[in-house]
Amino acid sequence: MLETAAALISPPLPGTWPRFESPLRLGVMASGNGSNLEAIARSIQRDELHAEIRVVIYNNPGAGVAERAARLGLPAVLLNHRHYPSREALDSDIVHRLQAHGVDWVIMAGWMRCVTTVLIDAFAGQILNIHPSLLPSFPGLRAVEQALAAGVRVAGCTVHQVELAVDSGPVIMQAAVSVEPTDTAATLQARIQVQEHRIYPAAIALAAELT
Ligand code: GAR
Repeated sequence: MLETAAALISPPLPGTWPRFESPLRLGVMASGNGSNLEAIARSIQRDELHAEIRVVIYNNPGAGVAERAARLGLPAVLLNHRHYPSREALDSDIVHRLQAHGVDWVIMAGWMRCVTTVLIDAFAGQILNIHPSLLPSFPGLRAVEQALAAGVRVAGCTVHQVELAVDSGPVIMQAAVSVEPTDTAATLQARIQVQEHRIYPAAIALAAELT
């Protein structure tokens, strides 16, 4: 019997997670809802991902991520990009805050700002991002809408190391989602987010293990 596309993609993640000499010290950067932050925090609570979230940095006042961080008992700092004269000035403050909290892995979880070499050089090779497409397809804004408009049959999400160009850099992990004929951007986005929440904690562990 033919297997369905859904059974052929997104196989189970490996069952064993690496332990490190000490928990990975994460700094999470977010702009919006914060569901990926929560997925990472829950994975840590379940003792799967051997890490701790030292600080959450967000840039939009009133973003859902602030409420989630409070509920999870995580320190959160608002750095409103509108109050900085340049991208570099914002990134310089971000670097300062991350270093002050002893962060060694920077986790961009719905951070919707371009970053500069100020951040990238300060945490070389230790910045991860998640994006709702199978990169290198559909970088940038409205990735799910882009995928639907292109008529792809398989969509998904990608965790990658961060380089200067938006949504670019070596891929750490991907998960695929089959596109149904009835899908809207909202329904497809929702299924992709389930996969994001599944792979991001695992990808952090894998990236740290590979380093
Ligand atoms: C996620 O879908 C993530 O892939 C996307 O923002 C969303 C944040 O959701 N990131 C990008 O598009 C980066 N280019 P969340 O705030 O609920 O975690």
